[in-house]
Amino acid sequence: MKDFIQKLPKAELHVHLEGTLEPELIFALAQRNGISLPYATPAEVVAAYDFHDLPSFLKIYYAAMDVLRTEDDFYELTFEYFRRAAAQNVVYVEPFFDPQAHTSRGVAFETVIRGIRRAQDEAAARLGVESQLIMCFLRDLSAESAMAHLEMAEPWLDHLVGVGLDSDEKDNPPAKFAEVFARARALGLKLTMHCDVNQKDILEHIRECLDLIEVDRIDHGVNALEDEALCDEIARRGLGLTVCPVSNRFVVQNLTGDEIRKMLSRGMKATINSDDPAYFRAYMNENLEALADEAGFTEAEILTLTRNAFEVSWLPKARKQHWLDRLAALA
Ligand code: ADE
Ligand code: ZN
Repeated sequence: MKDFIQKLPKAELHVHLEGTLEPELIFALAQRNGISLPYATPAEVVAAYDFHDLPSFLKIYYAAMDVLRTEDDFYELTFEYFRRAAAQNVVYVEPFFDPQAHTSRGVAFETVIRGIRRAQDEAAARLGVESQLIMCFLRDLSAESAMAHLEMAEPWLDHLVGVGLDSDEKDNPPAKFAEVFARARALGLKLTMHCDVNQKDILEHIRECLDLIEVDRIDHGVNALEDEALCDEIARRGLGLTVCPVSNRFVVQNLTGDEIRKMLSRGMKATINSDDPAYFRAYMNENLEALADEAGFTEAEILTLTRNAFEVSWLPKARKQHWLDRLAALA
C-alpha cells in the first residue's frame, strides 16, 4: 500500500504554506533574522505543540510565523514544501497563504508574494511540481481588512488562481465576507472557504457557502453529511471537498474515515489533503497511509480520492486531462 500511494501522481488542494514551517526552519530563520526563541532545540518546539482544537492550534501557528520576515524567508518556506511534495510524488498543488498574518507584522504584501512566486517558478522548473496560489483572508479580522488586501493583490492577479477564507470560524460566517468574495469573483478569481469540522453554526456556514457566496469548492465541509439537502446539492454541483484526515484527528480527535467513505458513496467529490503538515506531522502520503492503516481504505478508494483531487482542481482542462489519463493508466 505504501508503495502504491508513493507511486500515484497526486494533487494537494488544501495546504497552508505557513503550516509547512518545520521546526528546523523556524530555528534557521530565527538565527538569520536575529530573533531569539523561547526554545533551545527544534525538538522542544515540537514538544510545545499542544493543540486540541482550532483556537489552540491557531495560537501556535501565528506565533511561529514571526520568523518569516524577508522575501528569501518566504521563498525558502515555499521551496522546502515543494521539495517534500516532489519527494512524495505530489505533482500539482494549490497552496494557501495568509497575507494578513504578515502585513499585520509590518511585512509588505509584495515581499510575501514575490518570495512565494519565485519558489513556485523554481519548483515547476527544477522539481516538476506545478502550482497555482490561493490567497486566504483571516475570517477573525474585519471584512474591511479583507477588502484592503484584495485591493493590494490586484497588481498581482496573474499570481493568484483564487481566494479562500481561514482562521477562527466561531462567529465569523461566510456572509461577513460576501462583498469581498463577490469582488474577487468579478476579478476572475475562484472561490473557496473553510467550513472547519464541528464548528459552531457549521451547517449554516455551509449553506451560506452554497447559496450566498456560490463557492467553487469547500475546505473540510465534513459536517455537510448531517444534512441530506446539503449533501445532494454538493453532489449535484460536483463541488470538491478538501478533507484533511490527520488535521481532523488533532482538532476533533477523529480521522473522519467513515465520513470520507460516506461522501464517496453519496457522489460527493472528497479529496485528501495535509492542511498544516509541519504541525500535524503528516504530509500527503502520511494522510493517505493513515486512512489505509487505520480506516482500512483500499487502493481503489485511494485512487478515487486522488482522481477527485485532479477533477476538482483549478488546472486548465488539458493539464487536468493529462493527469487523469496518467491515473487511468494505473487503475
Ligand atoms: N489556518 C491554518 N490552518 C487552518 C485550519 N486548519 N483551519 C482554519 N484556519 C487555518
Ligand atoms: Zn485549512
